[in-house]
Amino acid sequence: MEDKKGAFESRLGFIMAAIGSAVGLGNIWRFSYIAYENGGGAFLIPYFVVLLTVGIPMLILEIGFGLRQRGSAALSFARLDRKWEWLGWWAPIISFLLMTYYTVIIGWTLNYVGYSFFQSWGNDPETFFFNNHLGLTSGVWEIGNIQINILITVFLVWAANFIIIYKGVQDGVEKASKIFMPLLFILMAIITLRGLTLPGAMAGINKYLTPDFSRLTDSKVWLAAFGQIFFTLSLGFGVMITYASYLPKKSDVVNNAFITGLGNCGFSFMVGMGVFGVLGYMAHQTGVPVDEVITQSIGLAFVAFPKAISMLPAFQTLFSLIFFLALFIAGLSSSISLVEAVVANLMDKFNIERNKAVILVCGIGFLGSVIYTTGAGLYFLDIIDHFNMQFGAALVGVVECLVIAWIFKASRLREWMNPISDFSIGKWWDVLVQYFIPLTLGFSVIKSAIDEFIK
Ligand code: PFF
Ligand code: NA
Repeated sequence: MEDKKGAFESRLGFIMAAIGSAVGLGNIWRFSYIAYENGGGAFLIPYFVVLLTVGIPMLILEIGFGLRQRGSAALSFARLDRKWEWLGWWAPIISFLLMTYYTVIIGWTLNYVGYSFFQSWGNDPETFFFNNHLGLTSGVWEIGNIQINILITVFLVWAANFIIIYKGVQDGVEKASKIFMPLLFILMAIITLRGLTLPGAMAGINKYLTPDFSRLTDSKVWLAAFGQIFFTLSLGFGVMITYASYLPKKSDVVNNAFITGLGNCGFSFMVGMGVFGVLGYMAHQTGVPVDEVITQSIGLAFVAFPKAISMLPAFQTLFSLIFFLALFIAGLSSSISLVEAVVANLMDKFNIERNKAVILVCGIGFLGSVIYTTGAGLYFLDIIDHFNMQFGAALVGVVECLVIAWIFKASRLREWMNPISDFSIGKWWDVLVQYFIPLTLGFSVIKSAIDEFIK
């Protein structure tokens, strides 16, 4: 083993960890509502186009770069040229920001596991979510300005992260991912099958699968697809760079990137069937058109789903338990990748032990999370997530692409990766990472900045 930080025991371990990072709240909670907001079937075409032209090529870039440079993001860039080290630090900074609220939403899923036992949301899951759970108005379970129910679960989420990352790459990240991923797949497959076999499901599925070509000219739909692909594949956070640095030096890059990208998006596609099936069922039960069964898209997982569950003919408690447990597992396996990436940067830079870095990151991270457990939490979450994704990750993506493709040189990386990979990529990849991705992504950052600040 070449460094003290750690290494994956097997290729399968790496793939499970990479998929564990990719498959998260983004695949169930975020994907469903973004697809819903962007017209269902209208969204799937841009989503898959961006996956193939940007997502997978970027995965190849990040995995290849991490494997070649053998370090966390900052170290990998520093090894290219000291001048570029700051770029590597950008990634752990936005990762840290993301961690502080991502863990809060995972906390909510744990709360909802608890509520599931009693079906606490009753017949009004919306009021329950905002008032009881988040404490926006009535301040139930509130002490000072803090929602105690959320504070407790957020603490548990950080504790789980602490334990796993403390154990290191092989005994922590790899072991956990090998258990979590198959389990997650089984749980979500059960939910999807249930959703698909409910009366009225077909109306929902139609909304999901019928392409709407007229919306393809709407730049908003494309921007949403960009954002979702970056978020869902954990791109621009230095996570894939860090994980790849734990692979043995001569490992496959190209096939691993394809497996991770297609596996992640295949999972989302499957979950989408279940979710839209459930929406179709709700339309069927209430007589409201599919388009209008929900009004609160962000609350899809926490409002619409409990609502749908209350309408199920049987096993309500069981299905809500399965659903929220699945969300929890998906979220936890993604959050550990963020914590690991930040920890790895600190270990690389300051030469500190893993245990010290973990205590530091989890301690400060937990404190950062507390702000989202207050009555104003949802407000902050919305704003910070928006900026972090729209400008943080996307900007890292552009610059990372430019630096690696032009300064390290795309052709050099490709010629190094091809012989060690299961199959090769051609010159088309150079063109994508040198021109196509920086241009389209750069355009998307500028376009959202204009929409944001000028209009
Ligand atoms: N990919 C995760 C999801 O889809 O939920 C979120 C995520 C994890 C984004 C790790 C970025 C990251 F570095
Ligand atoms: Na994902």
